[in-house]
Amino acid sequence: MKRVFSGVQPTGNIHLGNYLGALRQFVELQEDNECIYCIVDEHAITVPQDPKELKQHILDVAALYLAIGINPEKAIVFVQSQVSGHAELGWILNCCANTGELFRMTQFKAKSQGKESVGAGLLTYPVLMAADILLYDSDIVPVGNDQKQHIELTRDLAIRVNHKYGKDTFVVPEGRFMKAGARIMALDDPTSKMSKSAENIHSRISLLDDEKKIKKSIMKATTDSEGTIRFDIENKPGVSNLLTIYSVLSGISVEDLEKQYEGKGYGDFKKDLVEVTIGALAPIKEKYNEIRNSQYLIDTLNDGAERADEIAQNTMKRVRDHFGLGL
Ligand code: AQP
Repeated sequence: MKRVFSGVQPTGNIHLGNYLGALRQFVELQEDNECIYCIVDEHAITVPQDPKELKQHILDVAALYLAIGINPEKAIVFVQSQVSGHAELGWILNCCANTGELFRMTQFKAKSQGKESVGAGLLTYPVLMAADILLYDSDIVPVGNDQKQHIELTRDLAIRVNHKYGKDTFVVPEGRFMKAGARIMALDDPTSKMSKSAENIHSRISLLDDEKKIKKSIMKATTDSEGTIRFDIENKPGVSNLLTIYSVLSGISVEDLEKQYEGKGYGDFKKDLVEVTIGALAPIKEKYNEIRNSQYLIDTLNDGAERADEIAQNTMKRVRDHFGLGL
């Protein structure tokens, strides 16, 4: 059995990009692998957070994990800050990473752009992500395309440490990316990725959005003036993004959708996409509402943290030993 690890930041409600790019894979992989899914709250504080809101968002994301179909009997689900090994290994790996490679990360460049000063955590975020993954001897990391560079860094760090401190220090993991949906774009600007923290709420569809909001966001989505429904990322990024969302949510191929909407306008296409999206998200919302305020959710997270900690402690014993730390 392969070990799978991934996480989502509790920085807001999970959107279609997170779901189609990463979380869909979480559910699929739990059938044949040993899966560990984390709510990475320590990553969330790389930018300022309201403590009360953060606590709520942790439970929101946890409830959404279960609502989309992650089964705690098959996968470990837990909150990162409940397992101290993440921070400890993060520090050790910080001592193995070079500032040059961290300054080159595109996410750091994007998030620090135009700011005179940013928290050091924003720069070292990918090192903590590497620690999250390596702490569990993970083989596979299901993520969206935007995380490709961070996965490469994780692999580089693992290989570098293995070379210096012994080849069995870390398992070198591999990223897993969806063929369709690995990068869902913002609805208002199909040249940027859909994101939780974008100012315009109509740039994204959150899994918990109500029907009115879903309708408004999709009907407002940026398209082009050509008027034909065909997949062409370069010349028609907006329509191509909507076709991808439609195809993944409905299970109809993009080619079949193009045929289905031949001779029809964007209005008809968008109206149908609204229905498809509402239909796909309704059971998730129902399950979410059932468990969000339950003791079952808290018990699941506490149990998950215990199981994760056991694995993490074993790794940390080995890592401390290889690095010569402690007695
Ligand atoms: N637009 C996207 N399309 C496909 N996959 C995406 N992911 C994020 N955005 C898209 C994937 O979702 C997983 C969880 O992401 P995250 O919450 O850890 O952080 P993020 O990538 O920074 O996501 P956001 O939504 O853009 O958050 P903010 O705005 O807070 O930075 C990851 O696997 C990611 O690849």
